[in-house]
Amino acid sequence: MIGRLNHVAIAVPDLEAASAQYRDALGANVGAPQDEPDHGVTVVFIELPNTKIELLYPLGDNSPIQAFLDKNPSGGIHHVCYEVDDILAARDHLKSTGARVLGDGNPKIGAHGKPVLFLHPKDFNGTLVELEEA
Ligand code: CO
Repeated sequence: MIGRLNHVAIAVPDLEAASAQYRDALGANVGAPQDEPDHGVTVVFIELPNTKIELLYPLGDNSPIQAFLDKNPSGGIHHVCYEVDDILAARDHLKSTGARVLGDGNPKIGAHGKPVLFLHPKDFNGTLVELEEA
């Protein structure tokens, strides 16, 4: 059911420093910071030949990644995003297997303008999984 790895998201305590490291030390193609107020994050997209890296930094008072950074002050992998063809069919199938969908269970529009859902990390080996219809 899942397709390509769309991105790996990394929560970072210093967005400028992390962007500079990917650009200058790793030689990656690093975009400009983008505020995503609906998701409580500022995102920097990094294009790799086969996938993307997203650097996440908290935006606003109730950012969903603040608690993660409190627990992981030097940053860390926050989630992986897999592509699916039909997000509602994917959701219904996953629910039928007992997986929990976060939030109200309905897709939100994600950072790429496409519908996304998140699955409970306790159901996936401690990994927060995002699904994106692509
Ligand atoms: Co993501």
